[in-house]
Amino acid sequence: MSINPAAPYPLIRQMNADDLDCVVEIEEAAYPFPWTRGIFADCIRSGYDCTALQAGPSLIAYTIQSYVAGENHLLNLCVAPRWQRKGYGKMMLNHAIRQARLQQCSSVFLEVRPSNPSGIRLYEQQGFFIVGRRPGYYRAADGREDAIVMRLDI
Ligand SMILES: CC(C)(COP(=O)(O)OP(=O)(O)OC[C@H]1O[C@@H](n2cnc3c(N)ncnc32)[C@H](O)[C@@H]1OP(=O)(O)O)[C@@H](O)C(=O)NCCC(=O)NCCS
Repeated sequence: MSINPAAPYPLIRQMNADDLDCVVEIEEAAYPFPWTRGIFADCIRSGYDCTALQAGPSLIAYTIQSYVAGENHLLNLCVAPRWQRKGYGKMMLNHAIRQARLQQCSSVFLEVRPSNPSGIRLYEQQGFFIVGRRPGYYRAADGREDAIVMRLDI
């Protein structure tokens, strides 16, 4: 689906500590096993690339990226449930890839649950491919779930 031209034009900006209430609310609504407020606060404090997407007064999506030795790791990409399927996930992913390029990274890595077909489809659509699997990486309702590791060469 494409972005609604009548919607307020979204602004991509740096996430800061004042955003944490909104971020945690979205995170808890979007994931069965959400990151805690403390994890996001640590990411901001540690200088990770924390990006927010603002549409009018609302924060509607965010990404967290780290850069290590020419590699970019996309640690979190999330769109608020009521704003999903409107193109914002793709917008934020492409922004993250542009940032990785600007930082002269040669690749972007990420992990995704096999039970997350929307995420996998989005990443494959943007050129990511599967490079491995981390057994029991995630918590799951019935124990643990593997992570699929994906990479984009840039
Ligand atoms: C995965 C997520 C980021 C996608 O964001 P989104 O804004 O809804 O996605 P977009 O509207 O930009 O869609 C881009 C592409 O993603 C895929 N996609 C997104 N939602 C999908 C769904 N429900 N079913 C199938 N494919 C889907 C499609 O390939 C879509 O392209 P298309 O519209 O041309 O078919 C969003 O669903 C989300 O935040 N989910 C919860 C958190 C999460 O799982 N994050 C990823 C963790 S690795």
